[in-house]
Formats: sequence, C-alpha cells, structure tokens
Amino acid sequence: MERVREALKNIPIFEELPEESISKIVNAGNIIKYKKDDIILIENDEGSSLFWILKGRVKVVRMSDDGKEVILNILGENEFFGEMSVLDGYTRSASVIAMDNAELFILRRNTFLKLLRDYPDITIKIIQTISKRLRRANLKIKALSIGNSEQKVGAVLLQFALDYGNYIGNTVKIENLPIQQEIAKMAGTSRETVSRVMSSMQKKGLIEYKNDCVNILDFQKFRNLYK
Ligand code: CMP
Repeated sequence: MERVREALKNIPIFEELPEESISKIVNAGNIIKYKKDDIILIENDEGSSLFWILKGRVKVVRMSDDGKEVILNILGENEFFGEMSVLDGYTRSASVIAMDNAELFILRRNTFLKLLRDYPDITIKIIQTISKRLRRANLKIKALSIGNSEQKVGAVLLQFALDYGNYIGNTVKIENLPIQQEIAKMAGTSRETVSRVMSSMQKKGLIEYKNDCVNILDFQKFRNLYK
C-alpha cells in the first residue's frame, strides 16, 4: 500500500492533502489491474465508483447503432473517470476501455462524496477538470458539426496539445500520440483522411511528425486555425 500512497501523492488534485487523509483514502480504495483492450466500464451500466489512473491510458468511447466506435476522449496517468454517474446517479454515460496495461485505483461513491465534502479545495479542482473537459468537448462539437476534415483532425491534435503537449516557446511537442486509426475515431473520419490531412499540414509547415511524435511548429497560429 506504500506504493499506492506514493502514487496518490503524485496526483495533482491530492497534492495538498495531509498524510493522514491520504492514508484514509488508500485504505478505503482498491487497486485493479487491467490488460490492454479490457473493458473497464460499460455504457448504461449502474455506476457506483470512481477510478484514478495510476498507470496506462484509457479511451472513453460510445458505440454508434451500426457498431462503429466513437472515441470521446483519451485519459492518462493521474486523471480520473467515472465521476459522472457517481455524482448524478444516472447510468454510465460511456464505456471505458484500457489502451495499455493499466493500473487503476478505485474509490466507492460514498468515500468519494465524503472527500468532496471534507476538502473543498479538492472539489474545486474536480470541477475545474470537468470544466476543462467540457471546453474540449465544445471544441470538438464545433469541428464535427461545421468543420471540414482538416478542421476535425486539427481539433483533435489541438486537444492533445492542450492536454499533454510540452511547450518550448511557441512550439508544442506531443509524444505518444495515438495511432491514426484512433485519431480517426476521435475526429469522426477515416484513417486515410487523417493520414492525408496530417501530411498536408506537414507540407504547409504547420506540423512535423514522425511515428507517434508530433511537433506543432507555431502553436498560436495552429490554435487560431482549429479552435
Ligand atoms: P461515467 O458516466 O460515470 O462513466 C463513463 C465516464 O467517462 C464518465 O463518467 C466520465 O468520467 C468519462 N467521460 C464521459 N464523457 C467524457 C468526455 N467527453 N471527456 C472525458 N471523459 C468523459
């Protein structure tokens, strides 16, 4: 459990919690390991717990009626999911699938709600995170409803840059970018289109990419183009 305590201390939302409270949370939760492609949550199931990602990445997905997967978001280490059902009491709003071998820390509903009541600073940080996710979703709604394929792919790359990018001046480097098939499922387009659009962005000098690493060369300009 010492390892879990250290892992929780690294989660920015918990960073100001006193040792004693961290210990209480550690004792109240469980660790579960998932293998790549394991289904962690299923859309419409009852939801009574919240998950913190200690290791690995997960994708939040919904299925269309004809069985196509739409990726709403990708979440990584130190992020949480499952808060929506826990907070509003409805069923799971989406399915969640492991993209890597993942290790999750699970808190039951009552423990999570007590944490929110006892520590207003944590509650504010959780609300800030949910607001950030809503902004990202708005960005995508706009691109998906009125954008062409370049704007759709641009909006997804912008989302990764904002969530996971490393800023060096006005250049933003995104490492561990998902494969083009996954980007296509986020952008509501095909893998071939993602490949074509990224190569055209490279020709225009907007990005440079190799394997799973992308550099956005003028972030200010990129943001204005695809926001
Ligand atoms: P819940 O509805 O309990 O179960 C599915 C979870 O996926 C949900 O809580 C959120 O934590 C997460 N989720 C749903 N939609 C999004 C989104 N657009 N961005 C990030 N996470 C999401």
